[in-house]
Amino acid sequence: MPDTKQPALDTDQAIAWFRQASPYINEHRGKTVVICVPDRLLGTDLLSTLTHDLTLLSHLGVRLVLSFGLRSDVDARLSKSPTFHNGRRVTDDAALAAVIDAAGSVRSELESMLSMGLPNTPMAGAHLSVCSGNFITARPYGVHEGVDFQHTGTVREVQNRSIESLLASGHLVILPPTGYSLTGEVFNLPAEEVAVETAVALGADKLVMFVPQLPKNSNGDWLRESYAAEIRNIASARVQANEPLSRTYNHACSASERGVDRVHLLPESDPNALLRELFTVDGSGTLITTERFENLRQATIKDVGGIIELIEPLQLDGTLVKRSKEQLELDINEFTVLERDGRVVACAALFLSDTNATAEVACLVTHPDYQGGGRAAKLLQALQKIAKQRGAKSLCIRTTRTAHWFIEQGFTPADVSALPADRKASYSQSRNSKIFAITL
Ligand SMILES: CC(C)(COP(=O)(O)OP(=O)(O)OC[C@H]1O[C@@H](n2cnc3c(N)ncnc32)[C@H](O)[C@@H]1OP(=O)(O)O)[C@@H](O)C(=O)NCCC(=O)NCCS
Repeated sequence: MPDTKQPALDTDQAIAWFRQASPYINEHRGKTVVICVPDRLLGTDLLSTLTHDLTLLSHLGVRLVLSFGLRSDVDARLSKSPTFHNGRRVTDDAALAAVIDAAGSVRSELESMLSMGLPNTPMAGAHLSVCSGNFITARPYGVHEGVDFQHTGTVREVQNRSIESLLASGHLVILPPTGYSLTGEVFNLPAEEVAVETAVALGADKLVMFVPQLPKNSNGDWLRESYAAEIRNIASARVQANEPLSRTYNHACSASERGVDRVHLLPESDPNALLRELFTVDGSGTLITTERFENLRQATIKDVGGIIELIEPLQLDGTLVKRSKEQLELDINEFTVLERDGRVVACAALFLSDTNATAEVACLVTHPDYQGGGRAAKLLQALQKIAKQRGAKSLCIRTTRTAHWFIEQGFTPADVSALPADRKASYSQSRNSKIFAITL
């Protein structure tokens, strides 16, 4: 018997969500994700939600490595004020003892949270095997600006083969912020450095770092996607370049520059940030990608020449409807371009109805030299997000030769009624374009 107390809509919404999440489930299966948990999250509700989510991800076939920070736990164990220089702890003997103690205690706490399987928990009955070990070889950080950092270390090598074999056997690997030297010493390491070096050494598909504040553009809008160079600029523009947030941004950039394909900065304030980022179109954080030379942005009047160069051959052979330069100038704010080394290599326009309820994508073109690299798909996804943010419930396109491409992007056949009201008049019967639509 269904639970009659549950409103039917909730179940339907959950089922609809599950369906829309299925491509992401496939996409993430078998992928290696390194997650860095800052000390600020220890003992919070977000951490307990996160550990449930990690169990879920592990059961969906995601290979997980978890590094964690200890700063406040170590401070709490010290009888005198801790010493930091340029944001890095000076680890004397007392601080090292506190680091070792805190690392063991936090690791046990995480292991116990990841072992939860009681009937009243989200992962009832699920067993997750968790491993830790001497996977990080360290060396002394040394003396900087006259300050001897003593037992503070830096990562010398990540034993990636050992971690790999544990991940391959289905274990989640926990990495405390400690490392061991060939001389048998223990070193205190920055958790973010451990996470970045491990992600690089493993060739991880993703690195996830939690931040108190997401990077914003000059208008103060949260950046959903960016490149290392842009995030580094934001970090250096902050008042104190060495403050924790700037350091996290820079660590994230370094992972991206050293080949980690997707680095995600997620907001600490959102307990659902990880699942929202991995399984929804909108995401929750800032994705730093390695495609540093291609920039997706709104077109400006200066792009008119580049767009004409791109679409003219297709207008001549009848693939696209003819648009005069004047019309293009009028519509330029509706265009989004993908720029590579200063050249427009792909473009698309988004038109919304007067009420913003429906939207249409037009003029989606990738330069022939750059086709097959997922650029049109990326543009289309970006326009889907913009249309949704502006309130559109559906997005349509008309095409004469690219029907199958749109079907593969999830569009289904529609008719003229799907077009935004003020664009229906421009439908040409003689062109006989096919119309496709997708629900946003
Ligand atoms: C359609 C178009 C935008 C795709 O650009 P792109 O950046 O190469 O797209 P993606 O890299 O995201 O997708 C490439 C895939 O689409 C396939 N594809 C390209 N054109 C296609 C078409 N007309 N029908 C079906 N599939 C097509 C490619 O074969 C490739 O498939 P593969 O990955 O299995 O090899 C590009 O071919 C183009 O500019 N065409 C001319 C303009 C046009 O017709 N625009 C659409 C109407 S507005």
